[in-house]
Amino acid sequence: MDRIVVRGGKPLTGSIPIGGAKNASLPLMAASLLTEETLTLSNLPHLVDITTMAHLLAELGVDIAMNGHAPNGGHAGRTFELTAAAIANTTAPYDLVRKMRASVLVLGPLLARAGAARVSLPGGCAIGTRPVDLHLSALAKMGAVIDIREGYVEATAPKGLKGANIVFPMVSVGATENALMAAALADGETTLTNAAREPEVADLARCLVAMGADIEGIGRGTVTIRGQKALHGAHHAVVPDRIETGTYAIAAAISGGDVTLKGTRFDLIEALVEVLRKAGVEISEIPDGIRVSRANGALRGADAMTEPYPGFPTDMQAQFMALMTVAEGASMITETIFENRFMHVPELCRMGANVNVHGSSAIVRGVPKLSGAPVMATDLRASVSLILAGLAASGETVINRVYHLDRGYERIEEKLAACGADIERLSD
Ligand code: EPZ
Repeated sequence: MDRIVVRGGKPLTGSIPIGGAKNASLPLMAASLLTEETLTLSNLPHLVDITTMAHLLAELGVDIAMNGHAPNGGHAGRTFELTAAAIANTTAPYDLVRKMRASVLVLGPLLARAGAARVSLPGGCAIGTRPVDLHLSALAKMGAVIDIREGYVEATAPKGLKGANIVFPMVSVGATENALMAAALADGETTLTNAAREPEVADLARCLVAMGADIEGIGRGTVTIRGQKALHGAHHAVVPDRIETGTYAIAAAISGGDVTLKGTRFDLIEALVEVLRKAGVEISEIPDGIRVSRANGALRGADAMTEPYPGFPTDMQAQFMALMTVAEGASMITETIFENRFMHVPELCRMGANVNVHGSSAIVRGVPKLSGAPVMATDLRASVSLILAGLAASGETVINRVYHLDRGYERIEEKLAACGADIERLSD
C-alpha cells in the first residue's frame, strides 16, 4: 500500500491548479441516467471515486467515452461523454455502494427514468452513521413505493413519479440532489423546502437546466422544479473544487508560503476566507483564482463551526484544525454536521498538537512546533489534514492509507512538490 512522506519546514511558493469538484462530478455523472442522449462533462477530476462511479454507471447501461485531451499533461480536467441510450440494469450492487456512498445518487435518476431501482444501503461510515432516510422519504413523497429487503432499497414507480411538496427536516446535500434529479422527470411541479444550497447542488441544477429541466431557485433554500417528459443531451463544465481550493489555501498558510490557486473561485470559499483572515492569513481574489500568503506574522487562534453552505464546510474542518495546532492562542472548532468527524485528533496529538475534544467541540491550543510521526486516518479529509500538519512539522511525517487521499485529491504530492514541498509517494 502506498505511503506519503513529508519532510516539513519548507514555505510553499508558486501556483497550484485546482480541478473540478469531486462532489459535483459524482451527481453530475449520475444525471446522465436521465436522458437517452449524450451528456458531456468536462473539467472532471482524475480520482478513484470518479472511476468507481463510472463502473457503477457502466453496469447500469451507460456508455462512457473518455477523452483526456486536458491541460497539465493530460491528468487534470478530463472530459467524459456519457450516454444512457437504454437502462440495462436497475441494481446498484453492495460491492460498489460500500466503496462509495455517493453511489446512492443513482436512486433518483433510475427511478425517474426506468420506474424502478434497487440500490444497496450504504451502511456505516467512518465519519458518522449517515442514514439515507431523507432520500427515501423525498422519493416516497413523489409516489415511489419503497421497501428495504436484504440490505437493499427496492423502489418502484411503475406509473412514474409525481410532483410533490417536499420539506426537508434537515439540510442534506445528497437527498436534495436525488430529489432534484427525480423531480426533473416527474409529472407536475415539485417544491423542495430547506434544500441544500451547496455549490455542487447548484452545479447539478444548472446542468439539469442545460438538459432541458425547468428549475427555479437554484442555489436557494426553496427550489421549484417543473417536471419534463424527457431531458436531452448537454455539455457542462464541472464547478471548481472548493474543498481542494481550501485545502491548498491552508497548505500555503501553514507553511508560511505564498501560493496562487488557479482555476478556482473566491466566492466558493467565503466562509473559510473569513475565518482564515481572523487567523492572520492573507487571502485575495486575483484573475482566474486566489492568492494566499502568510509571509509576515504569526497565525492566531480563531474559532470555526461547521454548517451547511454558505457556512463553514465540514469538509474543511480537519484541515483548519491542523492549521490551528500551530497558531498562537486557542481555537474552538465545533462540528455540527457529522457526529464522528474528529478522527484526526489523536493523530495530530501524536505529532505534538494540543487538542481536547468535548462532545462536538474541540479546543485546540496552539503549540510552537509539531514534530513528524507515522500517522494514518480513516477518511479523506482527516488524511489530508495530516499532510498539512506534516508540512509544518519538524522531521518526517509518514502518512499511511494513502488510498483515502486518492479518492479526493488529484496528484496531491506532485502539486505540493511543484511549490517546493519536500514530499514523495512511496509504493511498497
Ligand atoms: C455530501 O455528503 C458530501 N459528499 C460530503 O463530502 C460532505 O461532507 C457532506 O455532503 C456535507 O457537506 C458528496 O457530495 C458526495 P448530507 P452527503 O446528506 O450528501 C444526515 C467528502 O469528504 N443525513 O448533506 O452524504 C447525515 O448523516 C465528503 O468529500 C440524514 O440524517 O451529506 C449528516 O449528518 C464526506 N439522513 C447530515 O445529514 C439522510 O437521509 C448531512 O449529510 C441524509 C443525511
